[in-house]
Amino acid sequence: MANITTYPFASQCTDFGADLVWTPMVHTDTIINNWNEAEKILNFKKITNYIIQLVGSEPGKFEEAIKIIKKNNLNPLGFDINTGCPDKNILKSGCGGSLLKNPNLILDIVKSAQKATTLPISVKTRAGYDNHNDIYELAPRLIDLGISILTIHPRTVRQGYAGSADWDIIKSIQSSLFENQPSAKLIGSGDIKTWQEAIRAKQKTSCDGVMIGRGALGRPWIFKEIKDEKDYGPSLREIKMLAIDLSIKANSIWGDKGIVESKKHYASYFRGFDGAKELRLKLMTAKNLEDVRNILAN
Ligand SMILES: Cc1cc2nc3c(=O)[nH]c(=O)nc-3n(C[C@H](O)[C@H](O)[C@H](O)COP(=O)(O)O)c2cc1C
Repeated sequence: MANITTYPFASQCTDFGADLVWTPMVHTDTIINNWNEAEKILNFKKITNYIIQLVGSEPGKFEEAIKIIKKNNLNPLGFDINTGCPDKNILKSGCGGSLLKNPNLILDIVKSAQKATTLPISVKTRAGYDNHNDIYELAPRLIDLGISILTIHPRTVRQGYAGSADWDIIKSIQSSLFENQPSAKLIGSGDIKTWQEAIRAKQKTSCDGVMIGRGALGRPWIFKEIKDEKDYGPSLREIKMLAIDLSIKANSIWGDKGIVESKKHYASYFRGFDGAKELRLKLMTAKNLEDVRNILAN
């Protein structure tokens, strides 16, 4: 998730058993023109099971960006292309979800990315731009190109986050296109908030995997819960240790500015118990890692 699931949080998700994590999307122009900034988002350090997600609109720049990433010795398992983001600015610049208006351009982007690397190329998308059925035309063309994973968030771009994710689409894409199809995998994404929902979604659709976004915020242990098929229920002390760990890692990447990254997560970690609001307010006053340690000391 852009600006949120950077290395500090992603590493907690993998520690709790997430099989795969994606970097936040990074624009090909940022990689090409401002590698220092891009590297802070794309370098997932000791994580071995991560996929780098790129966003952009010019096919040649995907090839160029991937070559730069390779030259800088990052070791993702593969590269993912964002064709689903509904953010207004992203749409205005012809990237993300707006690519669904031009499926041929998506195919050109995939081909360009494939030219740059032998690593798997995957695509993250939505059901369509305006129409929930667009994906039925796009998906087979992507499979023919040899993509490794298709992740579908079954809302339209126009919908944004309104309404609910339609997992029937995942089910029918799985049975019509992926069932007897050995190379590409299908992942469903949308509205999964509990381990029970994740298991039900997988059983109902037979898809290869379930992606969890908002449901993991403040609860990276959801991945352990899914694997164990039971609640985890960490103590407040453990959650405080996770928040400190997040801040140490953010500090190692951004220095004191890492506090801004960590604050995006504190509200999700500390909720639902007596005194949560006071603790959150205190954390919002923290200026650096030391402040965080002091506030969370007891
Ligand atoms: C704040 C925010 C940032 C997101 N950033 C990305 C992103 O960078 N790349 C991407 O593929 N999807 C992104 N998404 C979409 C999620 O990956 C996911 O498909 C969507 O939120 C539905 O799943 P969820 O209900 O589990 O969150 C983002 C969603 C949110 C709310």
